[in-house]
Amino acid sequence: MHRILIIGSTGNVGGKVLSQLMTTEAHVRVLVRNPEGARFPSGVEIARGDLTLPETLDACLDGIDSVFLVWTASPATIGAALERIAKSVQRVVFLSAPLKTAHPFFQQPNPLRAMAEQIERRIETSGLEWTFLRPGIFAGNARHWWAPQIRAGNLVRWPYLSAPTAPVDERDIAAVAVRALCKEATAGAEYVLTGPQSLTQLEQVSTIGRVIGRSLQVEEISPEEARRELRIPTVLLDAWAAAIGQPAFVTSTVAEITGRPARTFVDWATDHIAEFRA
Ligand SMILES: NC(=O)c1ccc[n+]([C@@H]2O[C@H](COP(=O)([O-])OP(=O)(O)OC[C@H]3O[C@@H](n4cnc5c(N)ncnc54)[C@H](OP(=O)(O)O)[C@@H]3O)[C@@H](O)[C@H]2O)c1
Repeated sequence: MHRILIIGSTGNVGGKVLSQLMTTEAHVRVLVRNPEGARFPSGVEIARGDLTLPETLDACLDGIDSVFLVWTASPATIGAALERIAKSVQRVVFLSAPLKTAHPFFQQPNPLRAMAEQIERRIETSGLEWTFLRPGIFAGNARHWWAPQIRAGNLVRWPYLSAPTAPVDERDIAAVAVRALCKEATAGAEYVLTGPQSLTQLEQVSTIGRVIGRSLQVEEISPEEARRELRIPTVLLDAWAAAIGQPAFVTSTVAEITGRPARTFVDWATDHIAEFRA
């Protein structure tokens, strides 16, 4: 039986990895910083741990074969944490990003990218079997970006409306992660995961409007306004600016690994209608 530890189980992707693993035979443990506040399905083993306190990891890793790793913590303890993980387990599946994909959307320098590169280098030299998941932009970002404006009215103000991306459904990222954790995917693989279609940001907002049955007005604002009023980080603004003028990078990896088509953005929006209703 596979014995799997999920680090990041309360997050967007880790939560879906957890729910999908619960339908397999695997024994699942979650590492959480605050077990008191968290709710998990019955049958999940809960262990208190924190990536920034590497000494807390040993008990969480005891008896585990494979780790699903999301790292959004500070980079200070990357070396110490990965050393402990490598001593204890066989395999790690790391949620990274398309660091090596030549498309300009993925090539803007930023601190998160530098941190992911650092983690990958450590993993590659650790002796662990590894799989790097390299998803593009998550479909679920739409909840944070557009839902507040759509719930409040019919006007969406947004920068770089003509920038195309291929939003990937977090459930599909999780489905590939589960294959890798259960050793149904090759070790040493780097999976660039995207949605099935290149869609401009305007097309994505319009899709949500169609799905919720409302006619949304969309107004393009400048990057400065987006930074100031909507607090959009510069890293995203730079990526959208660089993306304009060519279609988004699209792969068929989700379908190849899971054996079924990647979910479309319409699928995602249809399953999240409630979050866009006032
Ligand atoms: N959003 C995108 O479009 C996109 C695209 C490509 C790649 N990515 C990458 O995806 C990753 C984010 O994935 P996500 O959205 O699933 O993350 P998320 O929803 O922000 O969740 C982060 C998880 O990490 C846990 N965590 C935070 N600090 C921790 C610590 N010190 N020790 C242990 N656990 C800790 C959190 O647990 P708590 O409940 O304790 O906070 C939570 O479960 C990032 O690395 C990002 O670069 C994102």
